[in-house]
Amino acid sequence: MSKSISTLTLQKYKEQGRKIVALTAYDYSTAKILDNAGVDLILVGDSLAMVALGHKTTHAVSMEEMLHHTKAVTRGAHHPLVVADLPFMSYQVDVTQAITNAGRFIKEAQAQAVKLEGATELNLEIVRRLVEMGIPVMGHLGFTPQSIHGFGGTRVQGRSARDAAKLVKDSLALEEAGVFSLVLEMVPDKVASIISSKLHIPTVGIGAGNGCDGQILVTDDLLGKYTDFQPRFVRRYANLDEVCMDAIKNYAEDVKSQQFPNESESFQFSEEEEAELSKLLSSTSAV
Ligand code: KIV
Repeated sequence: MSKSISTLTLQKYKEQGRKIVALTAYDYSTAKILDNAGVDLILVGDSLAMVALGHKTTHAVSMEEMLHHTKAVTRGAHHPLVVADLPFMSYQVDVTQAITNAGRFIKEAQAQAVKLEGATELNLEIVRRLVEMGIPVMGHLGFTPQSIHGFGGTRVQGRSARDAAKLVKDSLALEEAGVFSLVLEMVPDKVASIISSKLHIPTVGIGAGNGCDGQILVTDDLLGKYTDFQPRFVRRYANLDEVCMDAIKNYAEDVKSQQFPNESESFQFSEEEEAELSKLLSSTSAV
């Protein structure tokens, strides 16, 4: 197996112009596949609230649920950098709350970094304090799903020059505070390219064009497994929804027609034992 990816590796990739490959995972077997496929960074995103738990937004997922899934992912991922998303209201109260919860991801779930959304004054202070204590932080700007109600829906951010300038300013502030990388979500491609060229740290885009230093997608979107909605920026590389549906329908047919299980899928009982059993069962003393 190749060497593990660290935040320094990602920085080096930016300097070399080698694009960063990032995806989400919420469980052990998916993490193993991503690891074996050579993915650089796995995000245990709070998108798991929707994709794995069936909620309408990311808000409902708890620290305990995020920890549970992050533990599963770190058991399966040895090579990629594993980043855990700080869920809604796990860091917005104060620095102490943020440090406590970020620490739990590192200590209890073996994540290597955490991610938070936005560049408020409190967030900048949280980043400084976490970085000081050796916890790498990934930033996230543009459309930040924890603020969906504040945005009035799922909307591209930074469309006007004024909004784009604010995004550039916030990106620089996060870099200055110490984030090792920055997710840019649903931002015009030109704006994401400008930010990527102004920052020394790598940007990772989702719906932000190909001028970022890397790309991330929700794995279940890429595989066509999560089909509640498909954002315009998702490219589907497989149609697992259909593949799974066909497989399950075939299984159901085989069960009903007794084609499953066959002899090789069953454990045999020898004729001698069967004869003996029948004697035992017919004798009055049996069982
Ligand atoms: O929660 C998530 O999956 C994310 C990515 C989409 C960046 O934040």
